[in-house]
Amino acid sequence: MKLFLDTGDVEEVRRAAGWGVIDGVTTNPTLIAKTGRGFRETVLAICEACPGGAISAEVVATEFDAMLKEALEIASWHEQIVVKVPMIEPGIRLVAQLTDRGIRTNVTLVFSVSQALLAAKAGATYISNFVGRVDDFSGDGMEAVASTVEMVEAHGFESEVLVASVRHPQHVVQALACRAHVATMPYAVLAQLFKHPLTDIGLERFLKDWEGAGLSIFPPKVTA
Ligand code: E4P
Repeated sequence: MKLFLDTGDVEEVRRAAGWGVIDGVTTNPTLIAKTGRGFRETVLAICEACPGGAISAEVVATEFDAMLKEALEIASWHEQIVVKVPMIEPGIRLVAQLTDRGIRTNVTLVFSVSQALLAAKAGATYISNFVGRVDDFSGDGMEAVASTVEMVEAHGFESEVLVASVRHPQHVVQALACRAHVATMPYAVLAQLFKHPLTDIGLERFLKDWEGAGLSIFPPKVTA
């Protein structure tokens, strides 16, 4: 499963990319607005901070011609860019046209298998299935993910199912169990994946015992 970072914060991307475990970055208009910087400069800085990664940048128009114009502009900025398109009727039409032009797309705000079917038929590279926003209303966001992965695999679609709106590490574990292709998460959730209290306790004990025995990995320096 690929791991994407869900952020507009370039410093977070730099840090996570340094760990060598992220495959891309997703942004959305809210995340970009939070940065206080321009859209193009932020997205280009993210591309540079995550070399070779798939970087999703979203159109904001909702009418087809305007969406197409924005999508072509965004796609022209950098080869790593994936055009993010909302799950609305002109959006699906746009995805079909961008697919024909060889431009990668990420259909966002997908909550049901029927929506995912349309995105897959249009040739979406990624189908962003939001889970946290469903769980927030006492639903089970992961149900649609499981059904969508099954639909994509059973019917031979090339789209990758991307679990979005991830709120905690358990969502990541559930995404794995559903055999999702990608999970995107905030920096705080990615950082939590490192954590287990027994790791900290275990490491403290190892180092204490090592130090107590006066051991060293390196041979003592020989002085002439
Ligand atoms: C995905 O691409 C979205 O940017 C993101 O996962 C939305 O998450 P939220 O529901 O926490 O805003």
